[in-house]
Order: sequence, then C-alpha cells, then structure tokens
Amino acid sequence: MKQLCTRIAASLDCADYLNVLGDIRSLEEGGVEMLHIDIMDGNFVPNYAIGTNLLKKLRPQTDLLFDVHLMVNNTEQAVEIFSNLGADMITFHLETSSRLHHVIHSIKEKGKKVGLALNPSTSPAGLEYLEPYLDLVLVMTVEPGFVGQKFIPEMVEKVRAIREIIEHGGGTTEIAVDGGIGEKTVPLLKEAGANIFVGGTSSIFSGRESVSEAARRFRQLCEGG
Ligand code: DX5
Ligand code: ZN
Repeated sequence: MKQLCTRIAASLDCADYLNVLGDIRSLEEGGVEMLHIDIMDGNFVPNYAIGTNLLKKLRPQTDLLFDVHLMVNNTEQAVEIFSNLGADMITFHLETSSRLHHVIHSIKEKGKKVGLALNPSTSPAGLEYLEPYLDLVLVMTVEPGFVGQKFIPEMVEKVRAIREIIEHGGGTTEIAVDGGIGEKTVPLLKEAGANIFVGGTSSIFSGRESVSEAARRFRQLCEGG
C-alpha cells in the first residue's frame, strides 16, 4: 500500500464553544494542521452546528486548514456559501446529490480541495468513477450529526475496500475517518488504509488532558508512535 502522510484534523464541533479561540490556539500549539468544520442543516442530519457568522469571524484568526464537512441536503448552495467563507477543502455527502461530477467540478473550479463523504451504510461501489477527481474520501465511522457517538466497527473493512479501489486505479486520494476516532480505533483504521484522522471527543477533546497535550498525543497515536 502506498504510504500517504498522516494528517490530523480537529473537530470544531467538539471544541469548547465558550472558548473557541482558546481551543484553536491550543490546537495550533499541539501541531494540528486541519480544522474539521461540521456544517449541519437540521435536515440531512437532525442537528445544527456552527453558522456562517462564526466561520467568518474565525477565518482571519488562524492559518489552520479549514476542512468544511457539509452535512446538508442543499449541497450546491452550501458549496457556494462556504467557498466564499474561506474553506480550503469542501467535503460533501454522496447521498445528497445525483450530480456528483458536477458538484466535484464546481468545488474545484473555486480552487478548493474536494472530499466526498460516505455515510456508514453507503456502499463504496462506483467510487472508481469518481476517485480520479477527488482529493479525499471521508468515511463516516459513526452516523453523522452528533459528537460522541459509538464507533461502527464494520467501517474498518469499508476503509480497506476504498483503499483497494484507489490503489487499483493508481490514485493517491486520501482517506479520512470521522467519528469515535481514538486509541482503540486508530490502529485498525490506519492498517486498513486511512491517513487523515478527525480528532473529537474520543481523543483531542476528551477532557482528560489539555487540548494541546491531547493533540500531541493524538498525532503520536496516528503516526503509529
Ligand atoms: C459527526 C461529525 C464528527 C464528530 C466527531 O457528525 O461529523 O466530526 O464531531 O466527533 P467524535 O469523534 O466525538 O464523534
Ligand atoms: Zn465531521
């Protein structure tokens, strides 16, 4: 398997909402490179997360890569909105569009990296027709919409199947995993082929230690240290 570099993303929805900027500074100190920003519409998922105004305020405050995870049904509208709010990467859900190549193209046209997210029950069949145009596949390892949910173990084999599809096509698309990512799950997912790990309440924001300490430990864990 081609060795892709390990990357760490911190899930903003798991941060201390009363001290977001403080947590962002701690993430920077802890060597995190990506901020995983969940966007929810109360429709594709029965929940809401941060809004456009907070994102507008956060953008000039940090150089962290903004990886926007759209859990919304009106994907094409959201791509427009969040491209203009400083997203570096936009990840949208396969389940929300029948015009996947069109949406992928529209994100790339805006100069953004593009990720395709798959819900736990969504099969990777057909991914080979999209993979050449993707920068990342996001494998949801929990049902999307809420933090702190139970990890779905069958997702390990799904990551392996996706890595095989990518390698079979000679691609280098990255695989990110999101939801319940921590001590027990990282080694399994890494061995199966994931290289981007979204740290949430099972790791960076567990509350068991400082955010910067937890971020450093999470990186060691994900790098196989
Ligand atoms: C779930 C979100 C995840 C979540 C990760 O809908 O997409 O990013 O916030 O947090 P944990 O790892 O605590 O589930
Ligand atoms: Zn997410």
